[in-house]
Parts: sequence; C-alpha cells; structure tokens
Amino acid sequence: MNARRNHQIVLARRPTGAVSEACFESTVRDVPELGEGEALLQVRYLGIDPTIRGWLDERGNYMPGVAIGECVRSNGVGVVVETNNPDEYPLGRVFMHLTGWQEYCVLQPNPYPPITMLPEGVALTDVLGVLGHIGITAYVGVLEVARPEPGQTFLVSAAASGVGSIAGQIAKMQGARVFGIAGTAAKCAWVVDELGFDACIDYKTEDVAARLRELAPEGVDIFFDNVGGRLLDTVLRRIAVHARVVLCGDISTYDVDTPPRPLHNIRYVMGKRARMEGFNTLDHWDHYHEAAAQLAEWRAQGKLKFREHVLEGLDRAPEALVRLFTGDHLGKLVVRVSGPGADPEARTD
Ligand SMILES: NC(=O)c1ccc[n+]([C@@H]2O[C@H](COP(=O)([O-])OP(=O)(O)OC[C@H]3O[C@@H](n4cnc5c(N)ncnc54)[C@H](OP(=O)(O)O)[C@@H]3O)[C@@H](O)[C@H]2O)c1
Repeated sequence: MNARRNHQIVLARRPTGAVSEACFESTVRDVPELGEGEALLQVRYLGIDPTIRGWLDERGNYMPGVAIGECVRSNGVGVVVETNNPDEYPLGRVFMHLTGWQEYCVLQPNPYPPITMLPEGVALTDVLGVLGHIGITAYVGVLEVARPEPGQTFLVSAAASGVGSIAGQIAKMQGARVFGIAGTAAKCAWVVDELGFDACIDYKTEDVAARLRELAPEGVDIFFDNVGGRLLDTVLRRIAVHARVVLCGDISTYDVDTPPRPLHNIRYVMGKRARMEGFNTLDHWDHYHEAAAQLAEWRAQGKLKFREHVLEGLDRAPEALVRLFTGDHLGKLVVRVSGPGADPEARTD
C-alpha cells in the first residue's frame, strides 16, 4: 500500500432541489499502489463547474451520476508526484483531468475524457478557466457555432460567468454589438466597464423583455444561452429573422427538482426562420491546443480579460458549489487544494 493518505470529499446524500453543504462528507482513504502504466497526481486546484450538479443526481447528465460514498467528480489540475509511465506522465508535469474532490488522483493510461498535459510555466488557475474547458467552450461556441458577423446583435446570458464573460469578449472582437444578462449590478458593471460589453441587463431587478426591446428593437441576431428555462423563453420572443440560438447550458434547471417549464415561445423559432443548436465542448477537444494558444495570445495582448475567485482548502469545495448557484462570486470559482498560493490578482477568500 502507498504510504500517502488521501483526503476526499464524497457524496453523502443526493440533493433534492438546491444543493447544500450537508450533501457532502469529508473522509480519508488510502492511496492505492500504482499499477502498470499509472501515475499519481497531486491535485492543486479544482474548477467548480455547473456540470458537477448534474453528476449529483442518480441519472447524471452527459456522464453518469456519482454514487453515494463516491468521491465527487470534478475538473482539476495537479502535478505528477509518482509515475509508472514516465513517457505519458512524466514526473513533475502538470495535467488537467477529472481529478475529483480529493488530494490525490490515479491517472490511468489512455483515459476518456482525455487527460491533457499542460505547457510548463502555465498558471494553474488559468487552466481551469480561460485556457481550459471554460475558455475553449466560449471559443468553440462563438467561433464555430454562433459565428457572429460585424454589426450583428449578440446577447449572452450568465454574462459574468466564466464562459459568458469570454464568449461576449470574443463576439466583440468579431465586430458584434454585445449585450449581457447577469444577476447583480456589480456583475453588469464589470462586463460593461471592464470587459467592453455594450450593455448588460440585471435580470433580478430589471424587466428583461422591456430592456431587450430598447437595446435591440430589430431583435437579437444571436443568443448565446447559458441559463435556459424562463430566461430563454423570454428571449425567444425577441429574436430577429434568421437568428441563431446557441444552447451552451441551462444552469437555471440544474439545481431544482422540478422539471423545466415548457418553452411557450418556441414557435418564434419557426416564425423567425431561426436555428437552435446545442454543443458539447468535449466533441471539439481536438481543437484544444489551437484554441488555448489563441486565447493566451488575446490575453497577452490585453484583448481578453478573465477573473478567478479562489476559495482556500479542499473542505470548501461544497461551499463553492453552493455559491455557484446562488451567484455569490465574481469570477470563475476555483478551490485551492495544495501547492503554492493563488495568483495575487485573483480574488481570494
Ligand atoms: N456546452 C458545453 O460544453 C459547456 C461547457 C462548460 C460550461 N457550459 C455551461 O456554461 C454555463 C456557464 O458555465 P461557467 O462554468 O462559465 O459558469 P460560472 O462561472 O460557474 O457561473 C455560473 C453563473 O450562472 C448564474 N446562475 C446560476 N444559477 C442561475 C439561475 N437559476 N438563473 C440565472 N443565472 C444563474 C450565476 O450568475 P448570476 O449572478 O448572473 O445569476 C452564476 O454566477 C453553464 O450553463 C454551463 O453548464 C457548457
């Protein structure tokens, strides 16, 4: 048996409705002896992503649900500290993987989803945000699915989220007029004043339909939707002829136990000869290195801004997940598990 002990957060009970910290328990287990072709990753940071909520339900989502007593599945980054496979997993190199909420994770040879080795010197929190699947989702979703043209109206929901904030900035670089929808005045101010969006609607205090009539009297050409549910239904009434509705996520339906309300305004898709298209970033993972290089270049040129919100310590992962659904964060939520402290510019608490 390996001498190391592994601190994990496991699923203790399934949420009914909104997830709470009581759904999770902290435990310590042995680290198994490594098999042929395997390596041991010491987890440094976890990305707290909306998709985790789907994995807490028995039915899961595009991946199966996590079993009761099992370590919570989660994206993360870590460093190889032991290896039986130095070609695929060299000692000391950093990998992005579905590490789970734990201190150590065993890397298997040739896994799916693929494990990505990261360039040396890259900031680890970037890999869970702008240079990871969040950035790639926005990149693929905007440039391959939404394809905005100069002068078009591009609306993005959850505009201050990791994906939403990057999607809006990429659409702006394509010459679109970019509007956001977000849940607080501070988030709206951030996307307009710092990220360069043309306007942002606070969906908790403003009449979204009325504001859209004002901002886009001819209708919305592209709606990049991260929220789904009622908000999607509201926007469908305001789409332009030949609009494109990109279904990136429907976070408003993840943390509830009632089925989503039917879309009353779906007929506008036909009436406006519009197109709705969903996508999953994992289908585009072969573009990872190209997309990450472009995102890094835009970032270095100051054209792309991104913000992380770091919580310190593995035990705070459940709190982070709860905060994701209450919106109580500004920037991509990540949890630091081990290793050197966060980037001093990131918000930390
Ligand atoms: N298609 C893909 O392959 C793919 C890949 C990754 C992510 N996604 C999707 O992209 C979206 C954003 O993910 P992310 O990781 O970037 O998010 P994030 O940074 O974790 O931010 C999530 C934000 O969603 C908003 N939100 C939460 N519950 C809401 C509700 N009931 N109604 C409206 N807004 C709500 C909150 O902001 P407010 O304060 O503004 O409410 C929250 O801050 C999610 O829908 C996710 O599922 C899709």
